[in-house]
Amino acid sequence: MGELRDKVCVITGGAGSIGCETARLFLEEGGRVVLVDLREADLQRAAHSLGAADLVCVAADVSRAEDTQRYLDQAVAAFGKIDVLFSNAGNAGVIAPIAEYPDDVFDSVYAVHVKGAYHACKHGLPRMNDGGSIIITSSVAAFRGDEGVYAYITAKHAQIGLMRCVAKEAAHRRIRVNTLHPGPVDNAFQAGIENSLGTIVGRDATQLFNELIPLGRHATPREIARSALYLASSQSSFTTGSTLRVDGGMSV
Ligand SMILES: NC(=O)c1ccc[n+]([C@@H]2O[C@H](COP(=O)([O-])OP(=O)(O)OC[C@H]3O[C@@H](n4cnc5c(N)ncnc54)[C@H](O)[C@@H]3O)[C@@H](O)[C@H]2O)c1
Repeated sequence: MGELRDKVCVITGGAGSIGCETARLFLEEGGRVVLVDLREADLQRAAHSLGAADLVCVAADVSRAEDTQRYLDQAVAAFGKIDVLFSNAGNAGVIAPIAEYPDDVFDSVYAVHVKGAYHACKHGLPRMNDGGSIIITSSVAAFRGDEGVYAYITAKHAQIGLMRCVAKEAAHRRIRVNTLHPGPVDNAFQAGIENSLGTIVGRDATQLFNELIPLGRHATPREIARSALYLASSQSSFTTGSTLRVDGGMSV
């Protein structure tokens, strides 16, 4: 308890599974949390489930620069300068052969994961306290290629390049920048991907993934949140520019 006492923590995708569970853990650890997500109703549902006083919600689209500045400004207005910036919002895209891959889906997936993280770093750094932490949720998908998953896998790879550059620029302020790489998580986001994939491969994709994961199962959202806490807190004080895999060995 108390790993993030009075730390100001911004979490994008905060109404979703990993974001909301991370908010729960950060609040338990004494953090002041700003949840960012697309829809006000989803944010209110998440806030209700968290039931915390030290919580502010901002509806914003992370792929838009002006929305990013607004959610960051609201965070600073509510709690002061930011200590932990968790760029975690994501969308899955579709699975399709390259020649048929829809351009609008590619653009939208890239906009959320890559532009979203870029805007967060660009506008977030000037609003952060020295000694803070930026965490970008990438994926096990950053370490492999799978046919058909063109937008998501490309975007998840690109986040590492962004992270490495920002880690170097931010180091003189002792701000650490890392990517977090979950494997398949037992939640609705992954279930949606597995439903689409199951239709394409003609078998239960949840089981298929479990066979690909040496530890033999999906992660819980709490396991991902605990890794985010490690990167957010001083427990990882000498870790920057790293790619933390929380994937049960799937990328080995
Ligand atoms: N679920 C998994 O198995 C898994 C595995 C590896 C990586 N990830 C990554 O983890 C992150 C969180 O995913 P999750 O599993 O919690 O899924 P989720 O769908 O529960 O949460 C994602 C959240 O991001 C929000 N979002 C999407 N586009 C947005 C935008 N433009 N602006 C603001 N918010 C937006 C959604 O509304 C949603 O609440 C994503 O980046 C995802 O790619 C998930």
